[in-house]
Order: sequence, then structure tokens, then C-alpha cells
Amino acid sequence: MLGRFPSGVSVVTTRAADGTDQGMTVSAFSSVSLEPPLILICIEKSASAHGALTTANGFVVNVLSAKQEQVARRFAIVDIDRFEGVGFTRSSQGFAILDDVLAVIECDRVSMFDGGDHTIILGEVETTRADNGTPLLYYRGGYAQLEH
Ligand SMILES: Cc1cc2nc3c(=O)[nH]c(=O)nc-3n(C[C@H](O)[C@H](O)[C@H](O)COP(=O)(O)O)c2cc1C
Repeated sequence: MLGRFPSGVSVVTTRAADGTDQGMTVSAFSSVSLEPPLILICIEKSASAHGALTTANGFVVNVLSAKQEQVARRFAIVDIDRFEGVGFTRSSQGFAILDDVLAVIECDRVSMFDGGDHTIILGEVETTRADNGTPLLYYRGGYAQLEH
């Protein structure tokens, strides 16, 4: 039933305590508040990036464009270096900003809530950047694009 609700697709990036880059594909992203500007992401507790996302000071939500289905797939593959061969720059806090994304939302981590087998992470938006283009969509277990 939830698959009937279409979403965008993002790659959330942060850094582990040892400085290594961490990133994972995330569709459970939502706006929460305008004042202050808050967003949330829901991260599975067993995800390899869960530890870093719940301890780092913040994270970046990279909103993927329609041309980035391969990036979405790559950042959900288990046991590979997901950043290998992927171009990126760094945010002011040092988190990876992937090349050619539709939007960049850099957040400070401000709260966390238990959400069953996921952790709900609330971020306060610090910086944003938006580029022109069309979004990658996820619907009923598959990738899709806007028709126009
Ligand atoms: C389109 C798509 C959306 C996803 N959305 C989420 C999400 O919102 N939250 C989450 O915890 N995992 C989500 N995942 C799964 C994670 O990306 C994937 O399980 C994780 O990166 C696997 O990491 P691990 O094997 O290192 O634990 C999504 C995967 C895909 C392909």
C-alpha cells in the first residue's frame, strides 16, 4: 500500500568518526517545519550508515535527478565502496555533495526519535542549493520519471 505513494530519491551522506565517507539511498525524507527549517529522514537501524548518521553533527541530503538512477542503485548496494568512481565535492561541514544532483540540503542533526526498526533523524537546514532539471522518482518498487 505504501508503494502507491510516490517519492523522490536522495542519497544521504555524512562522515564516520574516523573521517570515512558514508552514504545511502533514502526515500524516507520529508519537510517538517519552516520556522525553524526542519526536515526528517528515517534510517533503518541495521543500515551500515546508521551509526555515522546518529553520531555525526550533521548530514547532507542529495536530491537525485532523473539521470541518476545508477547513483540511487549504487548507494543501496551492500559491501562496496559506494563513493568509488562517483564525483563529489565537500560541504562546509565536510560531507559529500554528489555531482549533478538536483538539490543539496545540508543539515545539523538536532533530534532523534525511535521509529521501530528505523531511527527518525530530525535535521535543521543550514544551507541549500538547487539546480534545474527533473527529479528521479520511486514508485511501486521501481524508478520513474516525470512525463513532460
Ligand atoms: C529507492 C530506495 C530508497 C531507499 N530508502 C531508504 C530509506 O528511506 N531509509 C532506509 O533506511 N533505507 C532506505 N533504502 C535502503 C538503503 O539504501 C539500503 O538498505 C542501505 O543502503 C543498505 O545499506 P547497508 O547494506 O550498508 O546496511 C532505500 C533503498 C532504495 C533503493
